[in-house]
Amino acid sequence: MTVDIRKSLLEFSERFNQEIERFFHFPEGDERRVAEAMHYSLTRGGKRLRPFLVCETAKMFGTDFEESINTAMALEMLHTYSLIHDDLPAMDNDDLRRGFPTCHKQFDEATAIIAGDGLLTYAFEIMSYPQTASNPEIRCRLIEMLAQAAGAFDGMVAGQMLDLAAEAYTSKNIRAEELIRHIEEMKTGRLLRYAVEAGAVLGGASREETFVLVSYSRKIGIAFQIADDILDATGDERSVGKTLRKDAAQNKLTFVNLYGLEMASKVAKELIASAIEDLEPFKDRAELLRALARYIIERKH
Ligand code: IPE
Ligand code: IPE
Ligand code: MG
Ligand code: MG
Ligand code: MG
Repeated sequence: MTVDIRKSLLEFSERFNQEIERFFHFPEGDERRVAEAMHYSLTRGGKRLRPFLVCETAKMFGTDFEESINTAMALEMLHTYSLIHDDLPAMDNDDLRRGFPTCHKQFDEATAIIAGDGLLTYAFEIMSYPQTASNPEIRCRLIEMLAQAAGAFDGMVAGQMLDLAAEAYTSKNIRAEELIRHIEEMKTGRLLRYAVEAGAVLGGASREETFVLVSYSRKIGIAFQIADDILDATGDERSVGKTLRKDAAQNKLTFVNLYGLEMASKVAKELIASAIEDLEPFKDRAELLRALARYIIERKH
């Protein structure tokens, strides 16, 4: 069975993008501006990889789009908040995101901060809706998992702190490789892992099945960030839709900066090969997840 992953992602994105409108209304008062900024950042581009992973993993277990869309939407909102804040002048200071001006450029810095807050909060509101998962225990579990994946102790927020702190490390140290993996897993891997794990929970996967999927998702999560770092160093700005060559300028601790492109690409390829191997027990059912893993290191944006 061969899968055209680009076509699958595109079709999914179209359907997902239509759903976004259902979650928005624009109040008449001055608070309208924050709703507009949230909507702006959510609808200007984006590969929709995380929601795709939620819905496709759930689908492997017979749970369809309508039953997984809320979780997928909440995760994409949370991811988009992380991008808005990541781009702020006090963080990576970026003007371009997904091919468009960043939120703080299009609106202003204060609006971008509260648009991020708005998306983060709204994500949890959506997760609490009964339509997200009719069984309240499952709903609570999904919410707890999302909070942990996004949070300051073992999640994306922790990763962002580590990423900023690591800008000060200039020389190689023996723990560097371990540290880079840790940063990449936290700042990026945790939300990708959540996508797959939440899909498994929504689908009612067994413990063994979930274990396999978590192993797969951790590997693609790190590989995804390495691919992002490689694109930063080698990509074409127009297709990537971000200002590139910034990681070197900002002294980010990445495999590319520390060990060079060849080593970074080797590590990413090994992770993807191993993630694909993990999926063996699912046979043909996991073809899309395999194709997605390959896409992660082949993508040009
Ligand atoms: C960008 O993520 C930020 C990272 C975690 C590397 P994506 O490359 O998935 O960004 P979008 O959502 O497609 O814009
Ligand atoms: C982003 O890492 C991780 C987030 C949690 C947003 P980067 O800073 O490398 O992401 P880009 O390159 O700006 O998308
Ligand atoms: Mg960053
Ligand atoms: Mg950045
Ligand atoms: Mg980057």
